Amino acid sequence: MKLIIIGAGGNSKVIIDIIKARQKILKEDIEILGLIDDDTGKKELREYSVLGKISDICKYINNEETFFINGIGDNKTRKKIISEIETLFSMSLRGAERRGNLTPEIRSLSPDMQDTRFETRDRIPYYTAIHPSAIIGSNVTIGEGTVVMPNAVINIGSQIGRHCIINTGAIVEHDNRIGDYAHLASGVVTAGNVTIDNLTFLGTGSKVIQGLEIGENTIIGAGAVVVKDIPENCTAVGVPAKVIKSRD
Ligand SMILES: CC(C)(COP(=O)(O)OP(=O)(O)OC[C@H]1O[C@@H](n2cnc3c(N)ncnc32)[C@H](O)[C@@H]1OP(=O)(O)O)[C@@H](O)C(=O)NCCC(=O)NCCS
Repeated sequence: MKLIIIGAGGNSKVIIDIIKARQKILKEDIEILGLIDDDTGKKELREYSVLGKISDICKYINNEETFFINGIGDNKTRKKIISEIETLFSMSLRGAERRGNLTPEIRSLSPDMQDTRFETRDRIPYYTAIHPSAIIGSNVTIGEGTVVMPNAVINIGSQIGRHCIINTGAIVEHDNRIGDYAHLASGVVTAGNVTIDNLTFLGTGSKVIQGLEIGENTIIGAGAVVVKDIPENCTAVGVPAKVIKSRD
């Protein structure tokens, strides 16, 4: 299997380490081809080259062996990039160029790329990166594109969404539901039956007691202890956690 990492920043550095650990410890047959990033100033990350811009993903999708993972740490940006590449892909799949309905990205591709690259793929294949030291309980589901970092624990019956980050040493207790594009920073603990909605970020070391729900697109500050449900679109900090502001 071959892998291309989207975004050449700090989070992708950790993903590279996860891949190396999987190669070494699990003997996984996976080769990192390189990264793609819209910052043309970025030429490489560790020993891997930046192969081009994110819209260049089109050049690789038709290769049966190549998978992708989004290494961008910010939740909203990670979601935006996924939705952009999926739009690009589906427009190309439908032959949108023949109807003159082109995105600038597709228009910038050479005609041969526009015509042939998507014939053998009907969706973008995402890689899910789980560090070998992570403990994953029974009946746990982990959505595609999610990253589970070293020493994280996800206990029985929990469901983790797509393109999430379960960071170093985070503990997700039993029967949690973690929405898409959520990020649980290092050392977070969520007790049993917690729901974290899409795009929500739990700052490092924060804790959530059992049975609570934290709404979509909310930020919980580092070190907070959440003892009541927290609504969507806000920032909450402190012990016990209190909402200090709303956010877009
Ligand atoms: C919560 C957080 C996002 C707020 O950032 P912000 O929106 O820029 O807010 P500000 O820094 O302006 O802080 C607003 C107020 O909240 C307080 N505050 C900020 N973060 C706090 C925290 N974690 N705990 C307690 N109080 C906090 C500030 O002291 C400030 O109080 P004041 O108005 O009395 O001066 C940020 O401080 C934080 O905790 N981020 C988590 C970082 C993290 O875990 N990173 C891991 C990356 S993997």
